[in-house]
Amino acid sequence: MVERPVVFSGMQPSGDLHLGNLLGALRPWVLEQHLFHNYFCVVDLHALTMPWDPAALTAKTRELAALYIASGIDPQRSTLLVQSHVPEHAELAWVLGCLTPMGWLERMTQYKDKSRRSEAERIGSGLFTYPVLMAADILLYQTDFVPVGEDQRQHLELTRNLAVRFNHLLGETFKVPEVRIGSMGSGSKIMSLDDPDRKMSKSEESDQGVIALLDPPDRIRAKFRRAKTDSGTVVELASPSPGVANLLEIYRALSGCGEEELRATFEGAGYGRLKDLVADRAIAAIEPIQARFQELTSDPATLDLILAQGAAQAREVAARTMVEVRRRVGLLPSPGA
Ligand code: TYM
Repeated sequence: MVERPVVFSGMQPSGDLHLGNLLGALRPWVLEQHLFHNYFCVVDLHALTMPWDPAALTAKTRELAALYIASGIDPQRSTLLVQSHVPEHAELAWVLGCLTPMGWLERMTQYKDKSRRSEAERIGSGLFTYPVLMAADILLYQTDFVPVGEDQRQHLELTRNLAVRFNHLLGETFKVPEVRIGSMGSGSKIMSLDDPDRKMSKSEESDQGVIALLDPPDRIRAKFRRAKTDSGTVVELASPSPGVANLLEIYRALSGCGEEELRATFEGAGYGRLKDLVADRAIAAIEPIQARFQELTSDPATLDLILAQGAAQAREVAARTMVEVRRRVGLLPSPGA
């Protein structure tokens, strides 16, 4: 049997999952699921890097796992795991952290953006070492490809550099993973609807620019209707403003249509029509996800069982990698490993 390449990716159970997460990551995961040996992770430890509410974190962790499945991740085909259920993630993060130069972490733009928004006394050092835990997630599974949105590119570069550094200093141990962005041709950077110069994000202050996957359809339509465009009235595909370009990109990603069809549908069309057609497509994609989500959340025992099976499958591989890491680093083998 030919081994399929390994895919690892994850999302944080903080805030509400949104259309950017769906188009930039979850849909590509689902559509390419049959090509790879997949690990899809709910990265709950990463959600501790910004202030959190414990009860909300518990609920959001199950909610995110259910949304993975509702969106089409098949637990029979892909391993679905919660990061903290596999303690090797945190263990490897410590080892890798000791090999990560501070300067590499200081250059991370996501850290710079997020820490700028809080006072230094109030941010935990986890926000700074966040990318090391992410590297541990990926490297534990000898991952070939990491499908993510554009905003994760720099973290992936750091992961690759860390793998190379470890292999160079301590001997060939980790596969150097490749980032996989935009494999569907569109959707890897969806912008906020009310501020198209910023990406659609879970940490957005106002939710007007963010289409949450659990928003009711009328809310989704209302948000698209209010989306920021410009002082013009009709679509000019040659030079769309950022707001119009973002709506076109969302349409392209949701419909999978090519440039010809886009031209035929929208060239010279009014902004009202553009917003309506994009809203139609978004609602058509999201409604079935919401229906499956309701079924799954009405049966939490089954969901917990799926997560327990996922953790057991993942631990087997992660533990194997850690035996090798311990040996390379010079730590005594764990008794019982
Ligand atoms: P997170 O939870 O912020 O986002 C999850 C995924 O959604 C993508 N994404 C977007 N894609 C397009 N347009 C947007 N506006 C948009 N916003 C988010 C992200 O690129 C990501 O793919 N650090 C990661 C989680 C993580 C991880 C990992 C990912 C932890 N360990 C290991 C891959 C491999 C994060 O915070 O994603």
